[in-house]
Amino acid sequence: MKDKLLIAAKNIQEKAYAPYSNFKVGAAILTADGNIYTGANVENAAYPQAQCAEASAIGAMIAGGESKIAEVMVYADGENECTPCGGCRQRIREFAGDKVSIHVAGDGVVRNTYSLAELLPHSFGPEHLK
Ligand code: THU
Repeated sequence: MKDKLLIAAKNIQEKAYAPYSNFKVGAAILTADGNIYTGANVENAAYPQAQCAEASAIGAMIAGGESKIAEVMVYADGENECTPCGGCRQRIREFAGDKVSIHVAGDGVVRNTYSLAELLPHSFGPEHLK
């Protein structure tokens, strides 16, 4: 399944709209039901309006009627690991448990895997509002 997610994230990365940063990112989400949703970053001439790949993939998942994340793959080329930004860690947290694996890939390979708890320790989530 990791290989399938890698291919999905790599394929969607090519569709990113990133003319300002030239930093294309793809994200693929595997849901608890076994489906894969993908998204790419979408930049804007008004720079702060850029949308991250993870946010796009989450939007696709919600549009698909699902809300339980089982695994995430983030794909971006370059020498550094593209771990999700702080905002996207929180976005993933909304739909994922502490143990969910977040794979970080680029240049054709998975470079590392982190649990959500590693990336966002002691996090705040929906259950805090119950
Ligand atoms: N970006 C993502 O899509 N996901 C991340 O986790 C990190 C950053 C995008 C946003 C922007 O379009 C570009 O990468 C440079 O920051």
